Amino acid sequence: MFDWKIEKKPIVALAPMADMTDSAFCRIAKRLGCRIVFREMISAEALVRESNRTLQMAAFYDEERPIVQQLFGANPAVMAEATRRLDEKFSPDAFDLNMGCPAIKIVGGFNGAALMREPQRAAEIIRVVKAATDKPVSVKTRLGWSQPTEILDFVRLIEDAGADLISIHGRTKEQGYAGSADWNMIGQAKKLVSIPLLANGDVFSPELAVEALHITGCDGLLIARGALGNPWIFGQIESMLTNNTYTIVSDEERRNIVLDHACLYAEIHKGDSRPLITFRKHLVWYYKGVPDAKAKREQLTKVETIADLERCLNG
Ligand SMILES: Cc1cc2nc3c(=O)[nH]c(=O)nc-3n(C[C@H](O)[C@H](O)[C@H](O)COP(=O)(O)O)c2cc1C
Repeated sequence: MFDWKIEKKPIVALAPMADMTDSAFCRIAKRLGCRIVFREMISAEALVRESNRTLQMAAFYDEERPIVQQLFGANPAVMAEATRRLDEKFSPDAFDLNMGCPAIKIVGGFNGAALMREPQRAAEIIRVVKAATDKPVSVKTRLGWSQPTEILDFVRLIEDAGADLISIHGRTKEQGYAGSADWNMIGQAKKLVSIPLLANGDVFSPELAVEALHITGCDGLLIARGALGNPWIFGQIESMLTNNTYTIVSDEERRNIVLDHACLYAEIHKGDSRPLITFRKHLVWYYKGVPDAKAKREQLTKVETIADLERCLNG
């Protein structure tokens, strides 16, 4: 059984990203050296209502294991029931509870980051979800609602409630994405708990990964935007940590992975005659900042099918 405590350190994992870390992206990240993937958040309420779309979002392939399924919700009983159902139907390797999402539609009902202001409810959710499964249960949160020091109490509450791992995005809810992630504050929180802790925020390169691990003293990292259009980052970080060097991605490798990723994506959306319209969000990231790719970037925003993409990449 998967266990955060015995995982080789540092753990470098793909962070959950709504509409991005679907099965196609997780499979690509795994193939390129990512050891653990966090799937995008799903609503516990929708899962218990048996929403088809939510059930589809929770499905995965064995090659994505070990996979952590993130849930959001504010009602402890519903969170526990969603965990039981997911466990029975899909059996992910671990569960993660979203206590950091700042989106207005999420925090409105005590979900996501709002749970940082409702510590007793947050602790109850952790306790009942732990009781609902044998699998590890982790919490992903931010430094606080408005003050970065809020994490110093919250992190202890999370551990005392029985969580097996904590991931911290080094910003407050009020900050959104403004300023930079405070790795020093994550480091202070790390000193207060004995369960493994993953640092999150602003790791965009292998060099920054080394620096974040050093400053935070954490057991590993969760990488979100740094992996968008750049799933090679996991292999590069592994190489940097073992050999102090890594390989830059060639144009040909980029083209091949973009096409592989698009094919996996199209397979998930196979009922759709123009499946790549919603894949353009990934294409933009794959060619962001690539020198001499301005014309290609423009064409990529128009692709609808795999044939269009092949023409564009080979053109
Ligand atoms: C497109 C997008 C979707 C996200 N969706 C989620 C989510 O479903 N659950 C979650 O806990 N965090 C979500 N996040 C937050 C990230 O997991 C991460 O905490 C944040 O982006 C900071 O890390 P980074 O600097 O590596 O991007 C999302 C971020 C992005 C950019």
